[in-house]
Amino acid sequence: MKNILVTGGAGYIGSHTCVELINAGYNPIIVDNFSNSEKFIVDRIEEITGQKIQLIEGDCVDERLLLSKLKDIKLEGCIHFAAYKAVGESAQQPLKYYQNNIGSLVSILSLLEKMKCPNIVFSSSCTVYGQPDQLPVVESTAMKPAESPYGRTKQICENLLEDYYNSGKGVKALALRYFNPIGAHPSALIGELPLGVPNNLVPFITQTAAGLREKLTVFGNDYDTPDGTCIRDYIHVVDLAKAHVASIDYLLSQNKSLLDHVNIGTGNGNSVLEVIESFESVNGVKLNYEIGSRRDGDVEKVYADASYAQNLLNWNTELSLKDALKDAWKWQVSLK
Ligand code: NAD
Ligand code: WQD
Repeated sequence: MKNILVTGGAGYIGSHTCVELINAGYNPIIVDNFSNSEKFIVDRIEEITGQKIQLIEGDCVDERLLLSKLKDIKLEGCIHFAAYKAVGESAQQPLKYYQNNIGSLVSILSLLEKMKCPNIVFSSSCTVYGQPDQLPVVESTAMKPAESPYGRTKQICENLLEDYYNSGKGVKALALRYFNPIGAHPSALIGELPLGVPNNLVPFITQTAAGLREKLTVFGNDYDTPDGTCIRDYIHVVDLAKAHVASIDYLLSQNKSLLDHVNIGTGNGNSVLEVIESFESVNGVKLNYEIGSRRDGDVEKVYADASYAQNLLNWNTELSLKDALKDAWKWQVSLK
């Protein structure tokens, strides 16, 4: 079986990706320091797949540790998820974000070079576009200044990958720009585990419906959109996970050095009110919500043109917004 190093593999997107890697016949090796995840998630990946997971518990900024743990292993590729991702916190603690998000990419690239493994998939984000002038967003759409230090770390990591590619070391790299991942595995054994009060819409919805939060505040209904609320491209996390498998397949099929950037979204935009209505109708649950003021730094609307991913990776989304909201609710209920 081909070994794929998965940094941050116990996290939200990483855990779903490990399941899909195993389903596709790969052997994921997880590196995680559990700074934003729980160990039981690794057991759950094993429960879903029936396969034992190799786990390196540690910090992927620590290249020496990884080299010592991996010295006898032939690595075919790496999916680098490990990063901090809380937008608000990144404004309060920018050094923490620069150190971890950029430091971990530097150390992983150096590790892969020493291990003679050229294939890397990097977790980028639609946040690199800022508020784009053109919708849907294509990969060549001009980047605007990032709205947060977090977003800037993703832009810098993309620049870093470009400099590394240009250095002629033979890297084969895909930077996947995820839109808004939501939902959970249909088994309800793994899903998102937000620390404290969630910032993101769907965990806030499910926690409100479960009675853990009193009500959801819709951040503004005076935007220039059909119902006045912001529009995003919400993608089921299982579809997103499968895009990583397709990316690894693609990199392994290429024999020349490459660097490419790929939007991973559904191609559809949905408003906050549409998400709430879908959640209520698919789950038969009433949600307590009110309209509040705008949130600083929110982009009015952003959704992907997903055709490049479809062509390059031979990948397409298979699940709907309703599937994702059903699975998100099943996961929330399972946490009680
Ligand atoms: P997550 O926090 O659930 O997962 C990240 C994992 O990385 C966690 O398990 C954490 O413990 C681990 N980690 C962090 N720093 C580490 C380090 N130095 N060494 C070892 N492990 C470390 O986040 P996620 O939602 O799964 O996001 C994964 C990646 O995708 C991140 O790079 C994130 O920026 C990016 N991304 C996420 C979203 C989103 O909305 N969830 C959108 C776009 C991009
Ligand atoms: C979605 C919509 C809110 C909470 C963030 C990061 C971005 C990327 C994806 C990593 C917005 C509205 C939310 C609430 C609300 N992550 N909302 N009430 O802002 O698109 O992006 O996650 O790369 O970098 O910034 O996602 O889930 O926070 O918000 O009305 O309590 O829901 O205003 O319109 P966002 P989100």
